[in-house]
Amino acid sequence: MFSYYGSKSKIAHLYPQPRYDVIVEPFAGSARYSLLHFDREVFLYDASPLIVEIWRYLIAASERDIRSLPDVPSGVHIDVFTQLAPVEKALIGFNLCRGKAVPRKRGHGQNSWSQDRERIARDLHKIRHWRVEQCSYLSILENRTATWFIDPPYRYANTAGNGDRYARSTIHYETLRYWIHSRRGQVIACEGTGADYLPFERLTTVSANTNNSTVKQIDELIYTR
Ligand SMILES: C[S@@+](CC[C@H](N)C(=O)[O-])C[C@H]1O[C@@H](n2cnc3c(N)ncnc32)[C@H](O)[C@@H]1O
Repeated sequence: MFSYYGSKSKIAHLYPQPRYDVIVEPFAGSARYSLLHFDREVFLYDASPLIVEIWRYLIAASERDIRSLPDVPSGVHIDVFTQLAPVEKALIGFNLCRGKAVPRKRGHGQNSWSQDRERIARDLHKIRHWRVEQCSYLSILENRTATWFIDPPYRYANTAGNGDRYARSTIHYETLRYWIHSRRGQVIACEGTGADYLPFERLTTVSANTNNSTVKQIDELIYTR
């Protein structure tokens, strides 16, 4: 529904199919795996209040709400649209750039926001039944028997060197390893180049843009149980 740093938009289809009718994403971000399997019962959690607010907004929004969001031409600052709520600005801002950890404030170049807006409006029916909560993964109370799609900030984050970071991210990876082992049901855990706190295997290799406009190859790793 929105572009985001670390999103699995291009590779969500490479992960195993959910074996359960319930999917839990404890590090939701833009929740691309759940979106692919949207008709399951979906529970999203994220430590970021902004990410959770965007999901809550989208779950409740009408198609008309989305279609009435304005175009943001190149060079125009989002704050000129004084009628917009902060969450609407953030949703638009994430779609004014590709794969950023914070929403963009100004339109630039030829962005695809107007096409994204239409796609979001058409996809709203997929997420009406989803539930979302703001908390750290360690505070999730219920250990549901479910497909747990676990996509944390990567241990050696930003191998691409483009400066992106999640706002609220302090992960102790040994604790995460124990927590992953304790999940009930199916586990699909994601990581990147160099992570070894679980017996990860290579899923695929993706290209990432760096600060100096070069492209770097990064391994996407997977652990399943
Ligand atoms: C790699 S992104 C998830 C990407 C997602 N799979 C997608 O397709 O967009 C990781 C997310 O974890 C969140 N996060 C960071 N630390 C967290 C924590 N301790 N508990 C829960 N979420 C956390 C970040 O806010 C970020 O949204």
